[in-house]
Amino acid sequence: MTSKEIRNQFLQFFKDKEHKIVPSAPVVPYDDPTLLFTNAGMNQFKDVFLGQGTRDYKRAADTQKCIRVSGKHNDLEEVGRDTYHHTFFEMLGNWSFGDYYKKEAITWAWELMTDVWKLPKERLWATVFRTDDEAFEIWKNHTDINPAHILRFDEKDNFWEMGETGPCGPSSEIHINLSDDYDNPELVNADDPMCIELWNLVFIQSFRDADGMLHDLPQKHIDTGMGFERVVAVLNGKNSNYDTDIFIPLLENIAELSGKKYEGENEAAMRVIADHVRTLTFAIADGAIPGNEGRSYVLRRILRRAARFGRELDLNKPFLYKLVDVVIDEAGGGMGEVFPEIKGNRENIKKVILAEEESFNLTLDRGIVLFENIIASSGKEKKISGEDVFKLYDTYGFPVDLVELMAREKGFDVDIKGFEALMFEQKQRARESTKKKIAGAYDVDGIEQNFDFDNIPQTLFCGYEKLKKITTVLDFITKEHTSFIILPETPFYSESGGQVSDKGELVVEGNEFEVLRVLKIKGRVIHVVENKNGFEFKKGMSILAEVEEEFRWDVMRNHSATHFLHATLRKVLGTHVKQAGSHVNGERLRFDFTHFSKLTEEEIEKIEKRINTAIRKNIELTHHRDIPFEEAKKMGALMFFGDKYGDKVNVVQFGDYSVEFCGGTHVQNSSQIECFKITQETSVASGVRRIEAVTGKGAEAYLYAKEHELKTAGEKIAKLNEEKRKLEKTIADLEIKSKLGGLDSILNSPVKVKDIPVFKGEVAAASMDELKTMADELRVKMKSGVGVLISPIGEKVGIVAVVSDDLIKEKKLLAGKIVGQIAKVVGGGGGGRPHLATAGGKDVSKIPDALAAVESVVESQS
Ligand code: SER
Repeated sequence: MTSKEIRNQFLQFFKDKEHKIVPSAPVVPYDDPTLLFTNAGMNQFKDVFLGQGTRDYKRAADTQKCIRVSGKHNDLEEVGRDTYHHTFFEMLGNWSFGDYYKKEAITWAWELMTDVWKLPKERLWATVFRTDDEAFEIWKNHTDINPAHILRFDEKDNFWEMGETGPCGPSSEIHINLSDDYDNPELVNADDPMCIELWNLVFIQSFRDADGMLHDLPQKHIDTGMGFERVVAVLNGKNSNYDTDIFIPLLENIAELSGKKYEGENEAAMRVIADHVRTLTFAIADGAIPGNEGRSYVLRRILRRAARFGRELDLNKPFLYKLVDVVIDEAGGGMGEVFPEIKGNRENIKKVILAEEESFNLTLDRGIVLFENIIASSGKEKKISGEDVFKLYDTYGFPVDLVELMAREKGFDVDIKGFEALMFEQKQRARESTKKKIAGAYDVDGIEQNFDFDNIPQTLFCGYEKLKKITTVLDFITKEHTSFIILPETPFYSESGGQVSDKGELVVEGNEFEVLRVLKIKGRVIHVVENKNGFEFKKGMSILAEVEEEFRWDVMRNHSATHFLHATLRKVLGTHVKQAGSHVNGERLRFDFTHFSKLTEEEIEKIEKRINTAIRKNIELTHHRDIPFEEAKKMGALMFFGDKYGDKVNVVQFGDYSVEFCGGTHVQNSSQIECFKITQETSVASGVRRIEAVTGKGAEAYLYAKEHELKTAGEKIAKLNEEKRKLEKTIADLEIKSKLGGLDSILNSPVKVKDIPVFKGEVAAASMDELKTMADELRVKMKSGVGVLISPIGEKVGIVAVVSDDLIKEKKLLAGKIVGQIAKVVGGGGGGRPHLATAGGKDVSKIPDALAAVESVVESQS
């Protein structure tokens, strides 16, 4: 049976039992800050279990993409070493929201496993929570399981919890024992690869709070989860999940790329790679990217782990990215058919992985040298110190588990405690420096401890509609020259969602206090004001809270423009563009987003033009406040994965141009943004670009700055041109001077023709004028005589003859006649006045002949 058939059979089975088949939630949970990755099918229903949300159905079933690599459910270390744990897997699940309970959950599970799928009953085992007699009885009396195969376990195995906090309850699991010893209860829950859990039925009835206390939920629910890859293996009579159609194409491709077989010591490495590339593909498709923090760092570690295992197979160049197509088109009959998001993001996923592999290979090479040195220079102890692990981690980006793995291969231990101590110190240092940064003149750290929050209601925000509010002082404290004031209601926005806090002032009894910061702690807004003169605030005093209007408008323009930018980027570059960060202040907006290449000038222009066109269209804002999260999702509102969203959310909509989850403040219609201009486009990390832009006043300031730059540049150019002209003149003068210098040798070696001194020679003049200038100079310097200068000018020949006044008079020598005759030798002619005449010729090669002819010409004419 193919994996596709099995998935469909599961869904059909529950559809027939009136379950709504719902799509998998993204593997990156955008609405639950307690989770890095979706780790169970029930995540998307958490709000229903907690009584905070509702659905229009009471029963649901799906296949959920899950990643278990961090927090309470972390299988990373198991992956590859065994054949049935994965970092990414599909969880088949069915749910009841306050509808059916234990009996149906258990009997239907049994029906599917034994009636539909015909799994051998004698190999199946059921476990229940130690005190759950009800579940025990149902197994015993309502199924035909061997009663000796119903076992009780404690919290560790049969009480399921989503995370440190969240919905939870006792569970009942179905295990299968594929070994010959299948009647042995000792093998259940004993980490035996032949006896594994297939399906977990959780009876959700409690909630664990942040203090670890359990509370009853208003209703009881069913949450089941079956390991899809395991069930596919079992139904195909395989002992390993990797021997199914889900993994075989991947292993075959890895074998082909590495030229090694899936056998012996290669197996674990190949399994790790096959597993991890699925995780990377799905996580990146859903908007995660490898990086340095949180979820991104986990992803980076997974990629590095896979790349490092690749080296075990001599795959030293990037290769993981090549397996993405296999995941999408071949594995599991083409996972892209079941989860179209991976198909739609194919190229982006490959690019992100390739870039990350390339950069890791560089660090890996350098780190490996360091690692080898550490090993070579270590003493007998065979231990890698905490400092060395820290260096490998901090400088070379080696994940700690990678160092452990490499150490293990060499038979070395790793001082993890020492490493953790150094990590702690580093974090401490970072914390100290941020503390210092924010403290400044007014120390706000831990300020909330001075207030009795239990008796202070959460502050209402009225700043969407108003920028001024007359109200009363609800509570305050004053420390040195700083006062901290809480009001029942405030128009002051406090920094969140990337939008900076408002500026402005509080006015009490005619005294104005500048608001230095606006803090929001546990829903209470604290206005931090400068109180130089020690004004004594009193509770109940009337107070005016006034936001600086101009600043707020600048911020609103930039914030609304950010929404237009986000929507436009998706239109111009593609829907792979996802927000990766945003910061909006009065001067500019900064928007980080996933995209692979540098934006071209054309793309930037296109984006700007579209936004400016939209701005001119006067698109109205619709502010949906406090609407259910589900409703917002249905509207197709874009969300930022990093944000936290409660049950009720705010959605900001500009016509059909942009719909986004957002709690920020905005202009009423697009034309109030006035103008949009991108000022910078850069890269912040591999696969993440950053755009900085300005609007309204910022754009005006930008325009003036550019105009000023142009003016200054123009002035500079004019000045440079003037200097250039001067320099050219100097050069020309110098050139002539140097050429005239060349006349000296001609002047020094006259030949005599009938007692007449004849000065002749070849020179290098750039033009006829220059040649004439030289001839003038020659005529002055020679005093008495005949001078002939010949020069190639371009392709032609220039000749000048000069005759001194005495010879014109006494010998009737004429420059025109002389030059005319000489010119004939170079195929030309010319003439001029008696004292100076010029001629041109065509044949440059004849210059020596022409020079040689000078004496005879002078002789013949004298
Ligand atoms: N939430 C339970 C699990 O993850 C059952 O779906 O195992």
